[in-house]
Amino acid sequence: MSSHNFNPVSIIRKKRDGQCLSTDEISFMIEQYTRDEIPDYQMSAFIMAGFIRGFDDREAATLTDAMLNTGKVLDLSDIPGKKVDKHSTGGVGDKLSLILAPIVASWGVSVPMISGRGLGHTGGTLDKLESITGFMVDIPLDRYRNILKKTGVVMAGQTEEIAPADKRLYALRDVTATVESIPLIASSIMSKKLAEGIDALVLDVKFGSGAFMRDLGDAIELAETLVTIGEDFEKQTIAYLTDMNQPLGYAMGNWLEVKESIHALRGDGPADVMEITHTLAGTMIWLGEKASTINEGVEKSLEAVQNGQALEKWLELVEAQGGDTNLIHNPETYREAEFEFEFKATKDGYIQKIDAYQMGMGSLELGAGRRRKEEAVDPTAGIVLAKKRGEYVKENETIARGYTNKEAVIDSVLQTMDEAVSIEAERPEMNGLIQYRADKKGVHELKT
Ligand code: URA
Repeated sequence: MSSHNFNPVSIIRKKRDGQCLSTDEISFMIEQYTRDEIPDYQMSAFIMAGFIRGFDDREAATLTDAMLNTGKVLDLSDIPGKKVDKHSTGGVGDKLSLILAPIVASWGVSVPMISGRGLGHTGGTLDKLESITGFMVDIPLDRYRNILKKTGVVMAGQTEEIAPADKRLYALRDVTATVESIPLIASSIMSKKLAEGIDALVLDVKFGSGAFMRDLGDAIELAETLVTIGEDFEKQTIAYLTDMNQPLGYAMGNWLEVKESIHALRGDGPADVMEITHTLAGTMIWLGEKASTINEGVEKSLEAVQNGQALEKWLELVEAQGGDTNLIHNPETYREAEFEFEFKATKDGYIQKIDAYQMGMGSLELGAGRRRKEEAVDPTAGIVLAKKRGEYVKENETIARGYTNKEAVIDSVLQTMDEAVSIEAERPEMNGLIQYRADKKGVHELKT
């Protein structure tokens, strides 16, 4: 805890004038703000000064440390073995956590996962899990620890005790146009992840139309900052840069994505989803010291799906968190949305583009997402693609199906889909899905 008594105005002025702040100055701002000693208007000015002038790597690490220490840092040292988590910067159709957490845990690597809810065009793991009848994500820390001990994996929401400063700061940034700052995003993410008591972390940093960082260069910079902070805290941290220009897999929407994940765990997952899943899961298995190379980890990830051990682990987790395992055995028995409609090709040709951002917004309109934090989501709503980018379609062939309980939005969602999809005579060039890996040695281009 900072014992200094600085003047917030001097610190704001120093950052406004482009100077670096000391560790004590940053700690003072974060601690005093969390204790209500610094008002929102001064914190807003401070954050805006930092947004414009930037924070260097040391300052970003200090921000992380200060936010982390406003709450509890879990001590999981009594649980044997390595604890490894994964974090995604958010995407459309991104159900990877549901598939990879049981894969990794099935090899004896503990996965303590604290996730978020969907906001705007992106989905959130918690909303997906809650679509499973009975599944509880708001669980106290002692129960969280017990589930992890027993099953080797737990998936829950952020409690009040985890990095409370980040919760307040994020809400302030949201309304002061200061979200899109690489050091602020990186320190926000890492303060929550480091509070989980992990030994190592794998990050899925997305770029493209459905990503938070649309530009690949910005996404690489974010990945480097995240890795630098993680390694500063002596946690092995590896980031992958993955393409988020089209939705991942076929399904968007909460239960629809859980259903796709069940198929994936049964060995029938979409190629793009499985490529990233196995790479991230393999890296986690290696970081958890259950494989001697990342490649061996990837082999083990494939094996866990083929031999059914990952699906077994998923069933154990669903049961431990109160979910109805009958739905996992028989996903077709889930209730359906009242209205189903089809989006069809207007001409023959190759699908050039299925814009992830627009499809995510379409899915939100149908009821799968929320514009404001307070809104509820409809677990049955969403979109399931019938075709992916690069596939050939004939006029009138179905490209996607929409599911909703709100008949009135169907026409406008069909229009959104029409803007999201383009069809051309030429087959599009297909870029690799996983383009770079960032680790403590630097950024490496991957050939996929
Ligand atoms: N996600 C976070 O947790 N924090 C940010 O600042 C942005 C995305």
